[in-house]
Amino acid sequence: MTERTFVMVKPDGVQRGLIGEIIARFEDRGLKLVGAKLMRIDQALAEEHYAEHTDKPFFEDLTDFITSGPVLAMVWEGQDAIAQVRTMMGATDPAESAPGTIRGDFGLDMGRNVIHGSDTEPGSAEREIELFFDEEELEDYERIDEAWLY
Ligand code: PPS
Repeated sequence: MTERTFVMVKPDGVQRGLIGEIIARFEDRGLKLVGAKLMRIDQALAEEHYAEHTDKPFFEDLTDFITSGPVLAMVWEGQDAIAQVRTMMGATDPAESAPGTIRGDFGLDMGRNVIHGSDTEPGSAEREIELFFDEEELEDYERIDEAWLY
């Protein structure tokens, strides 16, 4: 099933120059970039994006961190894109994420874990995409390899 997912290179990933590496991994995998912007998340957006974690003890650390510097917000499209991205990201805790995954290769700790991707709960990806992007910021196009890829 072709679907879209929201992905964000977190402030640590931007600061460490990992944007190119991360985009290359998704492109190599056959996913298609349909939207991207370098931006700063303000407090209100951080609280809305991570609303489900409001009561968690790490909530303040999380919102402080995500607003601390620019992030690269992206939308990726492809077959089973949501689950594919989650697999490629690795476990939330870099200590538990497998080598070869993005967090397994670059993550430092639970906060500075380089990347966020929508979870597989129904509606999560759609909600996050709408939170970060207007419809006209997303591109509909065919990649040259798409016809034989899928
Ligand atoms: S939970 O409780 O299992 O639902 O939470 P979890 O999925 O482990 O983490 C949710 C997001 O919070 C981030 N996180 C933290 N950020 C900063 N500091 C600390 N201590 C911390 N602990 C967890 C974690 O990276 C997840 O971020 P996203 O962007 O969703 O991957």
